[in-house]
Amino acid sequence: METSILVIGGAGYIGSHTAVQIMNSGLSVVIFDNLSNSSRAVLNRIAKLTGRRPTFVEGDIRDRLTLRTTFKNHSITGVIHFAGLKAVGESEEQPLKYYDNNVSGSVVLFEEMQRAGVQTIVFSSSATVYGDPGYPQYSEDTPLAPVNVYGRTKLMVENILLDIKKSRPAWRVASLRYFNPVGAHVSGIIGEDPTGIPNNLMPFIAQVAIGKREKLLVFGGDYPTPDGTGRRDYIHVEDLASGHLAALNKLMNSDDNSPIIVNLGTGRPYSVLEMVHAFEKASNKPVAFEIVDRRPGDLAEYYADRTLAKDILGWEARLGIDRMCEDTWRWQSNNPNGYQ
Ligand code: NAD
Ligand code: WQD
Repeated sequence: METSILVIGGAGYIGSHTAVQIMNSGLSVVIFDNLSNSSRAVLNRIAKLTGRRPTFVEGDIRDRLTLRTTFKNHSITGVIHFAGLKAVGESEEQPLKYYDNNVSGSVVLFEEMQRAGVQTIVFSSSATVYGDPGYPQYSEDTPLAPVNVYGRTKLMVENILLDIKKSRPAWRVASLRYFNPVGAHVSGIIGEDPTGIPNNLMPFIAQVAIGKREKLLVFGGDYPTPDGTGRRDYIHVEDLASGHLAALNKLMNSDDNSPIIVNLGTGRPYSVLEMVHAFEKASNKPVAFEIVDRRPGDLAEYYADRTLAKDILGWEARLGIDRMCEDTWRWQSNNPNGYQ
């Protein structure tokens, strides 16, 4: 039987870009997704970019039997686990939904991996695990104190993986703490397709530029930053995807099997207004905005200390703000209604 990487949540934004890179590196992929926040249409798009259709299993990680069958029917050598709910506000309103999907779901997945003898996993964590340490540059030693339910689910899963590793040293585990993923595949064929009103800055800007929304509300113009707006470490999704390949490669091929926990960011923050202006330049469209009150829970600024990812994985981000905006615009203008 041909060996494959199981990409859980692989129909989603980051998972689909990573699946393309894995397939283009010569490996086969099985995508497992319940399509709760994604579309089946992405599978044809992936086929267009890779020349092969990935195997697809429609399933939920809380459904043990579907997972078991998937491990039985395919020779899986490693798992990348993107499946999760990710809206911070919703996680505060519906904590049980988040603990059930993100934490209970992960436990079922890890149990079924153990049962199937699959011991290699890369997990999507988030810079949200750090909370608010009082300084902007986060290294992996920054205290772990998430300030919302979503962030706590990510930290819980990281800790579960460390406990599994302690009790079963043959497991190979990596948790990747993403900063702010943006951008799209350079072809404009796959990209981020949020349902409803986007929570995140970049898809909102893209929808203003294409005329779907009237103006961006800039949350806060009085932060202690150079232009008064919040600053974040935006990272191109193609760089993130290559970070997953680097982690998988390290887990599968290195003699050192210590757990890997690293930040994936560029180390260079940009303000909301810098993003707006870069997007206007890339799209040649105006992006109307209005500065309004701060959004509760937001910080003025944070960005990654990216040293450890470079040391451990030999990985660093390559694409800058221009490519982040150009590629988002190509995706948005070629697919004004996303995958519909
Ligand atoms: P996404 O919603 O586009 O992708 C997640 C995918 O998982 C979706 O296709 C969804 O249908 C699927 N899914 C969710 N719950 C599932 C379940 N119970 N069973 C099976 N499939 C399920 O999100 P994304 O932006 O690609 O994020 C991927 C991962 O990265 C998430 O775990 C997210 O928490 C994490 N992350 C995202 C960001 C970000 O800003 N996008 C930042 C840091 C971390
Ligand atoms: C970026 C900046 C906003 C929207 C979130 C999650 C985090 C991670 C990434 C998953 C901030 C400003 C935004 C708008 C605005 N996700 N903004 N108007 O909040 O840094 O991080 O996504 O792990 O956990 O919290 O990202 O894109 O929402 O905001 O002014 O309409 O843009 O205030 O400064 P954030 P974001």
